[in-house]
Amino acid sequence: MKLHIDGGLPLFGTLAVDSSKNALLPIIASTILTDGVTVLKNVPRISDIENLLKILVSLDIKARFKNGDLEIDTRNIKFNSVSPEIAGKIRGSIFVLGAIVGRFGQSSVPYPGGCAIGSRPIDLHLQALRDLGINVTEQNDVITCKRKNIKTSNTTTEVFLDFPSVGATENLIMASVIGNKRVRIINAALEPEVEDLCNFLKSCGAVICGQGTSTIVIQGVKALTATTYTAIPDRINTGSYLIAVAACGGEVTLTNTIPHHNANLIAKLQKVGCEIKVDGGNIKIKSPIKNSCHKESKSNLGFLKSLGCVHTAPYPGFATDIQSQLAVLQCKSRGLTTITENLFENRFKYAGELGKLGAKVCVKSKSITITGVKQLVASSDENSPTVLVASDLRGGVSLVLAAICADGKSVIHNAEYIYRGHQDIEKDLVSLGANIIREDG
Ligand code: EPZ
Repeated sequence: MKLHIDGGLPLFGTLAVDSSKNALLPIIASTILTDGVTVLKNVPRISDIENLLKILVSLDIKARFKNGDLEIDTRNIKFNSVSPEIAGKIRGSIFVLGAIVGRFGQSSVPYPGGCAIGSRPIDLHLQALRDLGINVTEQNDVITCKRKNIKTSNTTTEVFLDFPSVGATENLIMASVIGNKRVRIINAALEPEVEDLCNFLKSCGAVICGQGTSTIVIQGVKALTATTYTAIPDRINTGSYLIAVAACGGEVTLTNTIPHHNANLIAKLQKVGCEIKVDGGNIKIKSPIKNSCHKESKSNLGFLKSLGCVHTAPYPGFATDIQSQLAVLQCKSRGLTTITENLFENRFKYAGELGKLGAKVCVKSKSITITGVKQLVASSDENSPTVLVASDLRGGVSLVLAAICADGKSVIHNAEYIYRGHQDIEKDLVSLGANIIREDG
């Protein structure tokens, strides 16, 4: 799949943000714990969700999209080992581990897919399940779990996470909500997606408190019922679109957001010179980049300020999933910026691609150093556009942002990575004035 982009145009208008991929993946996995027909509202058709649903279907769960909603019927669920062909495709498959052992007392799941951003170990997940009293064995790349039969005890099982891993926290929660134990998770991840999973499970009858804090306490219950639920908006896609406006110039209102989930980025965008107004679930951003504000304008003038140094960290720190997008913005800043990636070891693959557009970037160890330039420039010849190659989801999104703010014509190859987390990125940005054509195949 390719995206053909003719960049340099400012963005204007209003855009609604989709529901969060990283909230929906664990929520969809956790429907394994419920009995009945769950309806998830406004679910984007993205490949990570489509692939996770294949795993649920292999457990005889029925799943279907209807008018933008997703119906998941677990009334005929049966315990089954998960096939490597499906589980190997996405990271999200690790979430079914906790849900299946939580429902059936046992599970057998192949190692999940990694991705280009790093090795994606799961040692914290497995250690946490062992600390929960689950017998975990690994053989031939298959993880087998078996809950030890314990008498009802009124003691609390405490599980300490050495690192506030999002996935490990979510797996622990799913392995604990059904049963007769009280579990206290200490050093739990604070990401909003973890809180949303807890809120979903509580709407199914789970007994959980402390979600959104680093200590989550769960009292196991006998069973969970189905429910109707709307996941939180995608804070990462919100961030990507805010940066798109900042980098291209213009003025846009994003709706269906939870602004405080993007508080860290909003503070940075104000620092580089953007005007931002928050009103309920709407975020209005105006870029400092001057251009004639005329749709045909091909040269957006003006500099953004440099942020100096930025470090990615667990929430509420600066989100690693917005690191590559922020790098694009700083390519057009006045001065030097260093962004240090503290969560994943291989999340700068986009850097060389930005260099093709005239960006001055240098990657050394865990940091990228960026010397701002006045404008990014792509080919002026539409018969030989600048070729950019995506190699992961968020890096691919950063190439889209770079191409739409660059003067000239680009084409992004391997664009299917981007659709792991965006249903219609090209339609979204075209609705704001960008010039993007999607070529499938
Ligand atoms: C979730 O991944 C997100 N994915 C990631 O988004 C996000 O970047 C990450 O959290 C951090 O916020 C989903 O929610 C589906 P972690 P997860 O466990 O759960 C190390 C995107 O683009 N670690 O919090 O895998 C790990 O290597 C994706 O949407 C271990 O060492 O993240 C990393 O350095 C990319 N051992 C750090 O912890 C483990 O067992 C954070 O990982 C688990 C993790």
